[in-house]
Amino acid sequence: MLTDSAKDMGDGNAFLHVAIIMDGNGRWAKARSLPRTAGHKRGAESVRAVVEAAPELGITHLTLFGFSSENWKRPEGEVGDLMGLLRLYLSKEVRGLHRNNVRLRIIGDRTRFSQEIVTLIEKGEDLTRDNSGLQLSIALNYGARMELVEAAKTMARDAVAGKLDPDGLDEERFAGYLLTSDLPDPDVLVRTSGEQRISNFLLWQCAYTELVFTPVLWPDFGREALSQALVDYRNRDRRYGGL
Ligand code: IPE
Ligand code: IPE
Ligand code: MG
Repeated sequence: MLTDSAKDMGDGNAFLHVAIIMDGNGRWAKARSLPRTAGHKRGAESVRAVVEAAPELGITHLTLFGFSSENWKRPEGEVGDLMGLLRLYLSKEVRGLHRNNVRLRIIGDRTRFSQEIVTLIEKGEDLTRDNSGLQLSIALNYGARMELVEAAKTMARDAVAGKLDPDGLDEERFAGYLLTSDLPDPDVLVRTSGEQRISNFLLWQCAYTELVFTPVLWPDFGREALSQALVDYRNRDRRYGGL
């Protein structure tokens, strides 16, 4: 069962799922008197570095928080720049991901993106669907509360339609209604830039995830910092409420 896999990995088995809240692009740019977009551009390079390094570090699943459902609150110009970078990333990187046997999933509400971006997402997911290497998920226009509310709505509809018996609902079935239904829970959640909060990311899925906070700003994050985060994680004692 997928929802138990984090436990399995704690015992040294099958999966290693790392989730990352990629934060600090703006501060990286500010420290260099550059526009915030320059930080986002460098941040995209960190994504490439981390995706490349992940399989070599034993990571089987990598989930990156790229744009939150709250990030629309940013000035129009910055949101536009981020959408431009997203379009560029999807059109330039997917081929390389496919060559490296990476499977790409996008989690989040894609209805707010332009048709061009939606098409790029669909093409990328279709092309890489059967790849058995790194399982890369990028959260775009994602918010955990929104995900949980959407899941509740679908469950309520299924119950009304007679497809779901409310008394038969358990944690496994519930998790099946989430956007991450085919992913194991993260073993470790890394947040860069020194902030120590979850910012509405994977609230259900991170129930027993180890949290690693690093002061490194996302544009400076790469193989070295990722490897250090895994060292921190491996020094934890995961008890899941037991002894
Ligand atoms: C993370 O960097 C990128 C996104 C949230 C899209 P920020 O843009 O949040 O950078 P800071 O937090 O302002 O430094
Ligand atoms: C979280 O970063 C979202 C992403 C990394 C995509 P933010 O910079 O938006 O989070 P807050 O506002 O500091 O909580
Ligand atoms: Mg931030």
